[in-house]
Amino acid sequence: MNKSITIKSPATIANLVCGFDIIGLALEEPFDLMTLSFSDKPGLRIRHVDHYSLPEKPAENVAGAALLSLMEKLDDSIGFEMTIDKKIKPGSGLGSSAASAAGAVFAANKLLNNQFTTDDLIRFAMNGEKVASGVKHADNITPCILGGVTIIRSIHPLDAISISSPELFISIVHPQIEVKTSDARQILKEEVTLKKAIKQWGNIAGLVAGLMKSDYELIGRSLEDVIIEPIRSILIPAFEEVKSRCLASGALGGGISGSGPSIFMLHKNHSSAEQSEKIMREIYSRVGIEHKTYVTKLNHQGIKIK
Ligand code: HSE
Repeated sequence: MNKSITIKSPATIANLVCGFDIIGLALEEPFDLMTLSFSDKPGLRIRHVDHYSLPEKPAENVAGAALLSLMEKLDDSIGFEMTIDKKIKPGSGLGSSAASAAGAVFAANKLLNNQFTTDDLIRFAMNGEKVASGVKHADNITPCILGGVTIIRSIHPLDAISISSPELFISIVHPQIEVKTSDARQILKEEVTLKKAIKQWGNIAGLVAGLMKSDYELIGRSLEDVIIEPIRSILIPAFEEVKSRCLASGALGGGISGSGPSIFMLHKNHSSAEQSEKIMREIYSRVGIEHKTYVTKLNHQGIKIK
């Protein structure tokens, strides 16, 4: 049995524009580094080696809560030590809590010679997500574990699906402002008109078909959200300008990453992603908001063993 494992747990984008709470994808960068070791002492101990001042008490820590729910299925004598180096800033909209929760249970499962299924791991990790946002989500956890693009058809019962996708490059800007997921969910309307629902269903179907057929044009024209984005985008300064200028420069499409404040665009090639990154930097420098940008690509594997 391995005594210790170090993994790279990647950032994710979910919602993929029209696929609110159901479609997500994994990114090559950024990623958290996590090391999990068996311990002779029963129970779980967590140490953060980053600068985010996150709680280290297992039940209050996203990774800890996820791993504790897995440990409930194990013998009481089992013990783990976990070291977390977060590179994905909490609250960025890039699946930071999902990376912690998914990484912890994935690493434990490797140390335990894969005794749990992927669906088990998603369920354990959702208990970690609950600590972060008060709600059980799987739309970031699933692509983090499985890689590529994933769909959550249902949470109860869990029905998580991987779909094929062509190569995609991604540009991201993370304006350094705070948008709380709880606030970004609270402002949403409970009801949608049938007209908007039909438009959204068409876009979701088109996006899934476009990804599976490697049809970039179809992916691009399906990346439209008529329900969530018009409401949430008001929380993100310069959102419309970033989006329209990136689209004009050749991006396939994009929108708010998670509940924000990060904005992402999908691209067919690296140079288009670099062009959008330049536009993002220029706009946020002009409006005077500190920001961080990324140019990355679709991560087909998900969590990787280092
Ligand atoms: N999909 C969630 C939301 C965030 O947009 O509120 C991540 O699970």
